[in-house]
Amino acid sequence: MSELIRLESISRSYGDAVPIRALRECSLTVHEGEFVVVSGPSGSGKSTLLNLIGLLDTPTTGSYLFRGEDVSRLRERRRAMLRGAEIGFVFQSFQILEQRSCLENVMLADLYSGTSSGASRERARRALDAVGLGERGESFPTELSGGQRQRVAIARALSAGPSILLCDEPTGNLDSGTALSVFELFRSLNADGATVLVITHDPSLMHYGTRGLTILDGVLSEAAEPA
Ligand SMILES: Nc1ncnc2c1ncn2[C@@H]1O[C@H](COP(=O)(O)OP(=O)(O)OP(=O)(O)O)[C@@H](O)[C@H]1O
Ligand SMILES: [Mg+2]
Repeated sequence: MSELIRLESISRSYGDAVPIRALRECSLTVHEGEFVVVSGPSGSGKSTLLNLIGLLDTPTTGSYLFRGEDVSRLRERRRAMLRGAEIGFVFQSFQILEQRSCLENVMLADLYSGTSSGASRERARRALDAVGLGERGESFPTELSGGQRQRVAIARALSAGPSILLCDEPTGNLDSGTALSVFELFRSLNADGATVLVITHDPSLMHYGTRGLTILDGVLSEAAEPA
């Protein structure tokens, strides 16, 4: 499978006087078709890492190649275009609109893309199908469980066909049983070809991935193979 993401000695510091070193010389290569789970405690640099990979932020030092193109010093405009075309985000807090149906929530992904509403509706239906909510397009988020809401957010992230799904603590607001079902969903999406990178504070979820990494005090390392 071809290389999608390559971080080379990426560091990210915050502040000038006494900089907080949120990431320290992290290197990581992700190929298409991988399901990577990164686990680490609060404050270890997980969101910082995900924001960099998702082109929401730029590194202080080091380089980032996306499909071989150096994107570490891109201007915001170009970064935003690349982000819109290539990255699907899922966050802990779902970020779906209560006053809109599930289908409309997923269609929001196409709001600025110039996609016709017919095509957008069709894409949204397919994405809802993929997350097991094909029958719930007309439901409102208030009629759904937490796990189902997160599935709507996952469908929205998937609908435009991103190259990678980036998920920041996607099960942080869910009970443990529901969290497992969301990780099962990631696993099945990955089996169908999606490239997925999930960060979580829960190390027990690491084995769901095709690959596990840990992050501690801004240092990323490959997790030991399970015995
Ligand atoms: N915008 C910012 N300005 C200053 N410091 C920041 C900023 N964002 C993050 N940090 C610091 O960088 C470190 C890493 O933060 P980050 O948000 O990446 O951690 P995290 O692993 O995602 O934690 P959590 O599990 O609590 O979400 C922390 O020490 C945090 O306080
Ligand atoms: Mg975080």
